[in-house]
Amino acid sequence: MDKVKVGILGATGMVGQRFIQLLANHPWFEVTEVAASERSAGKKYSEVMEGRWKLTTDIPEGVRKLVVKECAPGLDCRIAFSSLDAEIAGPIEQAFAKAGYVVSSNSRNHRMEPDVPLLIPEVNAEHLGLIPVQKKNRGWQGMIITNPNCSTIHLVIALKPLMRFGLSKLLVTTMQALSGAGYPGVPSLDILDNVVPFIGGEEEKVQTETLKLLGALAKDRVVPAQIVVSAHCNRVHVSDGHTECVSVKLDANPGLAEVTKAMQEFNPLKQLGLPSSPSRVIIVKQEPNRPQPKMDRDLEHGMASVVGRIRECPLLGYKFVVLGHNTIRGAAGAAILNAELMMKKGLIS
Ligand SMILES: NC(=O)c1ccc[n+]([C@@H]2O[C@H](COP(=O)([O-])OP(=O)(O)OC[C@H]3O[C@@H](n4cnc5c(N)ncnc54)[C@H](OP(=O)(O)O)[C@@H]3O)[C@@H](O)[C@H]2O)c1
Repeated sequence: MDKVKVGILGATGMVGQRFIQLLANHPWFEVTEVAASERSAGKKYSEVMEGRWKLTTDIPEGVRKLVVKECAPGLDCRIAFSSLDAEIAGPIEQAFAKAGYVVSSNSRNHRMEPDVPLLIPEVNAEHLGLIPVQKKNRGWQGMIITNPNCSTIHLVIALKPLMRFGLSKLLVTTMQALSGAGYPGVPSLDILDNVVPFIGGEEEKVQTETLKLLGALAKDRVVPAQIVVSAHCNRVHVSDGHTECVSVKLDANPGLAEVTKAMQEFNPLKQLGLPSSPSRVIIVKQEPNRPQPKMDRDLEHGMASVVGRIRECPLLGYKFVVLGHNTIRGAAGAAILNAELMMKKGLIS
């Protein structure tokens, strides 16, 4: 099959770089366009990224020579992966969808709109049923799909297999990596030797996105899940990988062994063979001091959610720790997997 041409909006940022790294040698997709602000436009990608490329692999040869364009329709690609700054992503993504592109976005702007799928393929693939609703409502030739916030995605992957036990309450405390704030991100003097107990808008995102993701598709909308969610979000002195301490109330009161088994066996997309699917969606660590960002964030090429310390909680019944890579499964890898699912379902021709 001919590869599908893809472009990256926000290609110079932390997530944009991840897209480029993850799409190198992708079996279905080929990066034909890179776009960013007018500050970067007009120069070769390799030139713009001198001193700004932060990943340990080199910029792929085919991308080095691409000229960075401005983020406006007219790009030679079918899919536009968006990792744009949320301040400007909204109207740009809409212009691309209107012009016929499939926009797979990381930005928060459209996530909670009723006719936009907020998608994790293993969790709520059926929410792609919103696409015809979106087409009807908006009259766009193209479409927008979104992936959740980087801490929500790992939390919800860990929660999905517990839904069968009647998840009714949830308390989560995140310890979020610095790369989650983009580049240059949090000033070093604010974060060295420190923890910052506030990330603007993050707690609200975790609390609302979780309910949409775990909600049920009812004809033309998603009915949010009935779960009480409380989130504390903290920025910590870690480069990559968000760690989250979670307590849950499960009304069916399963044993700890059943909870562990449900997480270990969770792999609903196994048969689909999507190129970026991890072979283990949730890895349950048995060691008492895991997961840890440095040791576990790269498991399954950064696409796994790693759970550990499953135990009883005197407050809500059960507690555990979940960790995952924030710019891979939490961002670029999530948007790529969403596009792969859409290809498989015939939504991208
Ligand atoms: N980092 C994560 O872990 C993570 C996870 C999930 C979701 N997200 C979301 O993904 C998006 C990108 O995050 P990031 O961490 O990659 O941010 P970042 O490093 O700050 O990159 C922002 C990108 O947006 C571009 N941009 C800024 N202003 C623009 C404008 N006026 N017109 C066109 N392009 C413009 C920048 O281009 P220039 O270089 O030319 O300025 C850059 O490519 C954000 O919406 C963020 O919330 C991030």
